[in-house]
Amino acid sequence: MENPLPSRKFYDLTPAERLQVAMERAGLTAEEAAALSGAAGLSLEQADHMIENVTGLYSLPLGIAQNFVINGREVLVPMVVEEPSIVAGASFMARLARAGGGFFTSSDEPLMIGQMQVLDLPDVQTARLRLLEQRQALLEEARSIDPVLERLGGGPRDLEVRPILDSPIGPFLVVHLIYDVRDAMGANAINTAMERLSPRVQAISGGRVHLRILSNLADRRLARARCSVPLRELAFGEYRAEQVRDGILAAWAFAAADPYRAATHNKGIMNGVDAVVLATANDWRAIEAGAHAYAARTGRYTSLSTWASDAEGNLVGSLELPMAVGIVGGATRVHPSARAALKLMGVQTARQLAEIIVAVGLAQNLAALRALATEGIQRGHMSLHARQVAIAAGAQGNEVQQVADRMAAEKLVRLDRAEAILQELRRLNNG
Ligand code: MEV
Repeated sequence: MENPLPSRKFYDLTPAERLQVAMERAGLTAEEAAALSGAAGLSLEQADHMIENVTGLYSLPLGIAQNFVINGREVLVPMVVEEPSIVAGASFMARLARAGGGFFTSSDEPLMIGQMQVLDLPDVQTARLRLLEQRQALLEEARSIDPVLERLGGGPRDLEVRPILDSPIGPFLVVHLIYDVRDAMGANAINTAMERLSPRVQAISGGRVHLRILSNLADRRLARARCSVPLRELAFGEYRAEQVRDGILAAWAFAAADPYRAATHNKGIMNGVDAVVLATANDWRAIEAGAHAYAARTGRYTSLSTWASDAEGNLVGSLELPMAVGIVGGATRVHPSARAALKLMGVQTARQLAEIIVAVGLAQNLAALRALATEGIQRGHMSLHARQVAIAAGAQGNEVQQVADRMAAEKLVRLDRAEAILQELRRLNNG
């Protein structure tokens, strides 16, 4: 599988040249390209309709990760993120994974869970049975709520009743409506359905329906990715391939066994996940909430990913997490950059998007573990970080790289040092 555009070459281009390449590869229109460059994106007027008290727009860098092959298809991945090394890390790991065939992904049907809390029940068990007796009727009623979704093949799928016997206010019931939201993130669809269904639940149960809201622990809507990195791909510099692989496995074991490490390990995964979620204007707080709740599903918070060595000694990794993202409705439909981001990835369904996001999360996890298990992460961070500090110190044009290079050489990246180097440079240039 030949990579038409090695990442180093893409890396060396100017932003405008990179956009041109992406435009050609993804068949973007000039308008779509402008939406990705920032020249034309969300308008103030659109923003004013999105949230309240709008005063303006807020920008973040958008980079395009390279080398991703997902289920045999080349995918250009838009990533919106403020942290250096993330886009480079994902691209580089995608290149290693590509040598093993790339990423292989799968996902569940887009099933969201809506919750209803039913209080004031004299007998929780009887109420539970009454609701289950009316399960079909309740599902039938739920089916009539959103005819558009129904026509698209979505709608209610199941109804579950869960007694919670021990809570600070005593026993109550929780009704779960399992709802297929097709290509939407689904929060609006499920919340509407829950509100519409609640009088009937109230009448059947004899209780009082209190909260009606989706659950962000979308564990009926999982997406998963796996990859296999050939052992030989892992060697670099002074590090032998086995040493890198075993170092990665030990790093993963740390996260699997210790919640303090697992939180950071999973944060590294979310570096990749959130960047794509954000590029497509999806709700990253929902994804974060779902991911961390899923990581704690056994009662002990642990790693979202797994890493192992296969029979040939290759490094194999997998990642599975709830992925409630949409490609229709909400901000994704309104935001021109989000629409262009979907086009860039060639995404046709919410499930495809979910799967790409998980593959990027897995690549990002590998980037962090590989760095941590070998030279540490500061080295990779250093040069971009140094440039940011140089800019913060007031460096402009060529000065930025000059100040950054000096600090990197001195292994001291600090604002006061950047300011001193800048002053010295300017003195020399003026004198
Ligand atoms: C930094 O943003 C992410 C890492 O801390 C992730 C990790 O420790 O695995 C490098």
